[in-house]
Amino acid sequence: MSSSESSRVYIHEVSVRDGFQIEPEFIPTEQKIALINALSRTGVAKIEVTSFTSPKAIPGLADAEAVMCRIDRVPGVQYAALVPNMRGCERALACKVDEVNMVMSASQSHNMANLRMTSGQSLDQFAEIARAVDGKAFLNASLSTAFGCPFEGDVPLARVLDIVDRFADIGMQGVTLCDTTGVANPRQVSEVCQVVRDRWPGLVFTAHFHNTRGMGLANALAALRAGIDRFDASLGGLGGCPFAPGASGNVCTEDLVHMFNAMGYASGVDLEGLLELARLLPAMVKHDIPGQVVKAGPSTRRYPLPGGQGNARQAASPSCR
Ligand code: COA
Ligand code: ZN
Repeated sequence: MSSSESSRVYIHEVSVRDGFQIEPEFIPTEQKIALINALSRTGVAKIEVTSFTSPKAIPGLADAEAVMCRIDRVPGVQYAALVPNMRGCERALACKVDEVNMVMSASQSHNMANLRMTSGQSLDQFAEIARAVDGKAFLNASLSTAFGCPFEGDVPLARVLDIVDRFADIGMQGVTLCDTTGVANPRQVSEVCQVVRDRWPGLVFTAHFHNTRGMGLANALAALRAGIDRFDASLGGLGGCPFAPGASGNVCTEDLVHMFNAMGYASGVDLEGLLELARLLPAMVKHDIPGQVVKAGPSTRRYPLPGGQGNARQAASPSCR
């Protein structure tokens, strides 16, 4: 472990927001509530329960109030909601969220596609929201497309730093760096995370990766090694932004926890409990899920030797490499 690296990692479960927002079929409210209640007991530090967005933009989360107000809250777990504007903030505060997680994009064009606002308009909303929250909830800002944009390509680090500077001025307590369409690579993640950690030691940073190109776990590890110890992740690897072409699932919670646990980091999360819930997902979303450990089993899984004990030679047949 390097000196900047933490041995404790915090897992933020986002499947019920980032995952369910992109599912073609509406997940019934009761099923969402039951899943959140079960996730609350797995040891995750935070659950992003829903988003208070326009139901026309995100019909899958049109039941935000019902879900947020009816879940059982487990002490020690933070219950967050994504908020795009002042109206969303008012709705979230009425449901007594623990965290208002504002969202905007580092790139202007994704901000327009996702929120129909310029970056400046979003920042103005954030300032207004920060005044309205005024200590009633933790203030977090999620910065989408922080590592690249599906419309513009590269997003200069200077732009990310300028926006985080504005977040700090506005009074944000936490910032989540989001790789919305899975374009980040571990070297880039390492650089960006180190710079922000050094520049704003008082801000709580979270990493939010999508596994669109198979770099999700490598990116999470790069972020951890650069001193970030909080990770958004999604049960089963569900997820994606409906307004980002080519978006697909988040880094998978049970795969991430499996990796961290295997490496000796303390996640506080019960992997078996997560796997049990992940097994329920295909029936809930009516399709296969990208998570891998739920299919392969943990790395501690052992199989009986084929043909019984005397057949060890056959088990190591030369055709298996
Ligand atoms: N909650 C509920 N309804 C809202 C709302 C909110 N936070 N904000 C706006 N609306 C409603 C308005 O009342 C209006 O309703 P009406 O057509 O019945 O009069 C409608 O949405 C349009 O309002 P407007 O202010 O013109 O917003 P818009 O159409 O420019 O959309 C957003 C702006 C931000 C509301 C919308 O783009 C949005 O919700 N985006 C969410 C994006 C998202 O969650 N992406 C995935 C996560 S990264
Ligand atoms: Zn996301």
